[in-house]
Amino acid sequence: MLGRREFVRSALAGTGGLLFAKYSPFASATNASSDSRIEVLLGEPLGTISPNIYGHFAENLSGVIYDGVWVGENSKVPNINGIRKELVDEMRKIKAPVIRFPGGCFADSYDWRDGIGPSDKRPRRTNFWAGGEPANGLVSRKYDPNQFGTNEFVHFCRFVGSQPYLAANVRSLPAEQFDRWVEYCNSPAGSTTLADTRAAAGFTEPFDVRFWGVGNESWGCGGNFTPQEYAVEFRRYTAWVPGYGKELSFIASGPSDDGWDWTRGFFEEIVRKGTGQLRSIYGLALHYYSWNLSRGRTRDWDAGKGDALKFDSVDWYELLRQGDVLESLINGHWQVMGEVDREHHVKLVVDEWGPWYRPGSEMTPGDQIEQTPTLRDAIFSGMTLDIFNRHPEKVAMANCAQLINCLNSLYLAHEDKFCVTPVGHVFAMYTAHQGGQALRTDFSAPKVTYDRDGKPASFWGLNGSASLHDKTLVLTVVNPHVSEVRETEIGVRGGIIRAGTATTLTNSDIHAHNSFEQREVVAPRTKDLTIGSLPFTYAFPPASVTKLELRLA
Ligand code: AHR
Repeated sequence: MLGRREFVRSALAGTGGLLFAKYSPFASATNASSDSRIEVLLGEPLGTISPNIYGHFAENLSGVIYDGVWVGENSKVPNINGIRKELVDEMRKIKAPVIRFPGGCFADSYDWRDGIGPSDKRPRRTNFWAGGEPANGLVSRKYDPNQFGTNEFVHFCRFVGSQPYLAANVRSLPAEQFDRWVEYCNSPAGSTTLADTRAAAGFTEPFDVRFWGVGNESWGCGGNFTPQEYAVEFRRYTAWVPGYGKELSFIASGPSDDGWDWTRGFFEEIVRKGTGQLRSIYGLALHYYSWNLSRGRTRDWDAGKGDALKFDSVDWYELLRQGDVLESLINGHWQVMGEVDREHHVKLVVDEWGPWYRPGSEMTPGDQIEQTPTLRDAIFSGMTLDIFNRHPEKVAMANCAQLINCLNSLYLAHEDKFCVTPVGHVFAMYTAHQGGQALRTDFSAPKVTYDRDGKPASFWGLNGSASLHDKTLVLTVVNPHVSEVRETEIGVRGGIIRAGTATTLTNSDIHAHNSFEQREVVAPRTKDLTIGSLPFTYAFPPASVTKLELRLA
């Protein structure tokens, strides 16, 4: 049986005027037709929602960078200095805050020196993912041309308005090269030979890269370390890295799923040199993929996967149920971290998340690990972003895996073809939460019940998150039921609502998705709210993500 830990090895082998000030909708329902309630508590802030939880991940894997992000300066595809223009335009709209690169597993095979200097002098290397490229994949996917390196990545981030998050190689490069990469990126103009090399490429001023991943999945493709061994490496790689007057935020390779032992082992070993060591860690990376749609029949990484496009309503709920587990993982790892890091200096960085299906739905045949996101993945993504919003004190950053032409992609592209997926639309809707004050919000709705191969199963009926931005209250709500509308009373304790809008992403077909030919099958629709009388009742359509933007008086 193949687990997730081994999969890489295997792949390579082969309103108007509503006052809710004292009204609590939970006391008694005044609208007989509503079966659900939401109450937003303006007086109970949870913390500021870091924009960085709306972050992205772009690995040098198959069609992600080459074709997805990078088309080259001489391409007929509209581009800005070689970077796909349509991608840049779309990412600006969603205020993409941070992008993680170059991996993933690729990171621990990458020598950053291959990706700097004149592009015609850069070496071609075997890509980490070469062994997994399908027979119909492009040869250039196997042999990395290194045309997109540090300079191009930072350029891309600047065009989009994102911060770069570089993942350093701990498995196959010495710690010295970590120092040098930081020096190349951050040493002041004219100060070092590497600063001169950077200037020769057109970048006189330092890149000022703040976020640095120290390895990736170090329990597996990042070196097969034990948590104790990795903690020793982490201390060594991060000790005395020159900062060049800028803050460096190191992100430690963390657990996958419920790997409590990894979290505990890493923290216990780190503080063997004193609790002061905790100050050197900005975040602990948590990876969580939802992939097992076998309904309990297997835990095999390949056999357990479901199809991205062909699924029934049970598969729909099963995927959402798995995704919902992420909240308990955040709480659980936070608790384990707190056994050592009592003041919770170290935050969680969920730098890989999303559903993972079996191959077969890729829009560009030959793209490894590409899948076509449907409405199901949009609902999943809304639910996940709501989870992050509800834990602002714990989650400092999150990066959806992956940006384009991969797993839970916001965009799909091939040559001059491009489309925004339903997941991309959810990110656009949720942009409104960035930087807001998260608010405690209570949801109550009838549970979804379904038959899980002869056994009863259930899932919550309505959930979401709320944030306050001066006089605007943003409330996002997921109705996971495939066929039932949720008539819902919405109360805002401590505020008066004057007007608002509702933006909804849904479709009558739960399999609906966008394609290069039909780009707008799943797209959000916005309408003004017409709120007549107390209480405020809103009908959340089946299989939907909704954003209510309510203006407070
Ligand atoms: O996102 C694809 C791969 O999944 C990443 O390279 C790795 O970190 C994870 O196992």
